[in-house]
Amino acid sequence: MLLILVVAAFLLELVEISGYKSTTFQQLKQDGKFWPLAGTGRDVVKVRGLVDCGSICHSLRPACNSFNWFPGNLTCEMVNTVNAFLEDAPGAMAYVNASSVCYTSPPALENRTMYFSYGWNGSLPAPLLSEVSYDCPIFSRCPPLVPLKAKCIGPNTWQLLNVNVTPSCLANTQGYELSTEDGRMYKRYPGPMNRTEASRVCCQDGAILASDTSGITYSSIRIVAMDTTEAILQGATDEAEEGTWIYEDTSFLQVNNTPITSYNWWGTNSSLPAGQQQAPNGGRDKNCLSLLGEYWFDIPCSTELPFVCQYF
Ligand SMILES: *[C@@H]1O[C@H](CO)[C@@H](O)[C@H](O)[C@H]1NC(C)=O
Ligand SMILES: *[C@@H]1O[C@H](CO)[C@@H](O)[C@H](O)[C@H]1NC(C)=O
Ligand SMILES: *[C@@H]1O[C@H](CO)[C@@H](O)[C@H](O)[C@H]1NC(C)=O
Ligand SMILES: *[C@@H]1O[C@H](CO)[C@@H](O)[C@H](O)[C@H]1NC(C)=O
Ligand SMILES: *[C@@H]1O[C@H](CO)[C@@H](O)[C@H](O)[C@H]1NC(C)=O
Ligand SMILES: *[C@@H]1O[C@H](CO)[C@@H](O)[C@H](O)[C@H]1NC(C)=O
Repeated sequence: MLLILVVAAFLLELVEISGYKSTTFQQLKQDGKFWPLAGTGRDVVKVRGLVDCGSICHSLRPACNSFNWFPGNLTCEMVNTVNAFLEDAPGAMAYVNASSVCYTSPPALENRTMYFSYGWNGSLPAPLLSEVSYDCPIFSRCPPLVPLKAKCIGPNTWQLLNVNVTPSCLANTQGYELSTEDGRMYKRYPGPMNRTEASRVCCQDGAILASDTSGITYSSIRIVAMDTTEAILQGATDEAEEGTWIYEDTSFLQVNNTPITSYNWWGTNSSLPAGQQQAPNGGRDKNCLSLLGEYWFDIPCSTELPFVCQYF
């Protein structure tokens, strides 16, 4: 009994259904509802209140382990949470069976940051089907395509998802050289690769594709890529919007082909006809960026070049 009281104190809002084998429901989200199993004619009823809504859900078990309550029109939608997902719905309140929640924490994984989802903010108990996704700390900029996740799939039961497809957070600094200019580490890869592939290679090291964003960065890049007659890729693209160059080093940016700082090294190509020599000159055909000598040239994103990774 004491345990039940302690547990109940954790819950934000509960619907207590008295009687034979009662079920306690926990509010998962205000202004959210479960979808898609709710909403069919059979599942929707008009009731007098929240407790009635919970009673009906309780009596339907296990077909109903959660419900959406709409106080505005006294409507109750019965849901089986399995295969349902939570969506934003103003005026709705999503409730789940509190007996099928996780009172235990999701596994804490070393060096990983947890992000909570499915209407859950991370405080226990975790509602059934709530999820935590794990990301690498700041030193790894590689966005996991399929994030490592844990999901509350039953009473105190966490299931780890995507374990085999998630890259590890371990940084690979093998072959990187420390720049005393900025304290960061750099490595030249001969490639040749296009920007997306080069970016992926850097990413897997826990690094980013380097860009010439300051005099210090330029000097650091030149520690590992000494040949100034060799064009290398930069970690920037204006693919999304012409002239807006987004850099992997998000402290730098160009708008209308103009850097946000005074650091501007767009080059001129004297091999081109007069009037077309000033870079950038490729428009939508050249959405990637190279560094040749001290100068920047826009290039097609299919261009394969050597590149430098920068480790934060
Ligand atoms: C998280 O949600 C619970 C209710 O589910 C609430 O009591 C608590 O204050 C919230 N915590 C944060 C940090 O928002
Ligand atoms: C609530 O969950 C408990 C534990 O999983 C289960 O025994 C019970 O039948 C569920 N109640 C409803 C209404 O789904
Ligand atoms: C009750 O109101 C909600 C919005 O507040 C709406 O989505 C739902 O369809 C309504 N249900 C009925 C039966 O009118
Ligand atoms: C966590 O990070 C430290 C320091 O980078 C490293 O030595 C350790 O192996 C990492 N642990 C895991 C499980 O990745
Ligand atoms: C300069 O223009 C010539 C002729 O189009 C081209 O072959 C060369 O790759 C260009 N150089 C740079 C750095 O873009
Ligand atoms: C970049 O290279 C990869 C691997 O060779 C290729 O699949 C992809 O289509 C290339 N991207 C562009 C824009 O050329």
